[in-house]
Amino acid sequence: MHINSNYKNISETYLFSEIAQRVKKFSEQNPDAQIIRMGIGDVTRPLCSSAVNALKKAADEMGTKDGFKGYGPEQGYDFLKQALADYYKTTSGVALELDEIFVSDGAKSDLGNILDIFSDDNVVAVTDPVYPVYVDTNTMAGRKIVYLPANKDNGFLPMPSPDLEADIIYLCSPNNPTGAAYTKDQLKVWIDYALSRDAVILFDCAYEAFVTDPKVPRSIFAVEGAKKCAIEFCSFSKTAGFTGTRCGYTVVPNDLIREGMKLQKMWLRRQTTKFNGVSYPVQCAAAACLSKTGLEEIASNLEYYKYNADVITSTFDELGWPYTGGKNSPYVWVKCPDGLSSWDFFDALLTKANVVGTPGAGFGQNGEGFLRLTSFNTHGNTMEAMRRIKEVFK
Ligand code: MLT
Repeated sequence: MHINSNYKNISETYLFSEIAQRVKKFSEQNPDAQIIRMGIGDVTRPLCSSAVNALKKAADEMGTKDGFKGYGPEQGYDFLKQALADYYKTTSGVALELDEIFVSDGAKSDLGNILDIFSDDNVVAVTDPVYPVYVDTNTMAGRKIVYLPANKDNGFLPMPSPDLEADIIYLCSPNNPTGAAYTKDQLKVWIDYALSRDAVILFDCAYEAFVTDPKVPRSIFAVEGAKKCAIEFCSFSKTAGFTGTRCGYTVVPNDLIREGMKLQKMWLRRQTTKFNGVSYPVQCAAAACLSKTGLEEIASNLEYYKYNADVITSTFDELGWPYTGGKNSPYVWVKCPDGLSSWDFFDALLTKANVVGTPGAGFGQNGEGFLRLTSFNTHGNTMEAMRRIKEVFK
């Protein structure tokens, strides 16, 4: 028996577990501290009424002889896939076949699981800083990873350099953690790069619902050529507050063929073997969020978070702290003041202002000297956190 020794090459705890442990320790030592959490990107607005009503209705149905449902299709019910296809059409002008859409319990699972269909000897390119899931899942499989620095000089949006030799490329736009977002023209350069060497782009657009800039596509499939080289991952977590409800989706285009194999067929085979689908009530709730009323309701929650992002960015403007994000994104990526390191600024924020952020260094080498705040808290907490930050760091 041999363990997967690649696990020796990943950090002992996942970034957000490490932060949670530090915050727990601090609050045990300081029980009176009123901690405001702006670290992990977890939503705070309740589910919209359309989703709640759909959950209740589906639960009632499941309790009747005629409405009961056992195993559903592993790749999702057609009613939800159709609602998603309509959503793509309206928001991005993208036409999808229903069999290209795979419903799952979230983007994070799919981003990790998709690696089953790729050989371990592929070279993987990630931007740095990066959502740790891309790095950890590939390290677990022993793949070689190359890091593309995202920094002030490239607007936190790395582009392919002439010497880049990558087979699998992760792009997250709007980006977690920096909040920077690729324009259509920039994505076209990445698509041309991938097509030129038969690489595959894994495009994470979990934050697409925050896009306001018309130059920024909400789906990579809105850019010509993407259906021949990209797989897209998205989720209801940030769009509709489903972090605790769990529902996501992955789009594998029928035109994506490598070494004579349709990746859509491979993913279908993988999912039907290892996954039994998302629960019926949750799929009903997700579809309800995409109804006319549901979309209006979730838009009002998104506006709520966008307002918080404005509160954060205007505070940083006042303090003269350089940042990116906050526009097209719920994340604000700020340069730590006074030359502090990411973890020192994290500690200072926690101990002096009782505000939790995410240290940029946790997202990679190029994140050192930065910290990420989320706009997912309440208006009251966001304003109070900014008041404390101004008081402590002025
Ligand atoms: C984050 O804080 O980066 C998010 O919670 C990531 C996630 O959605 O898993």
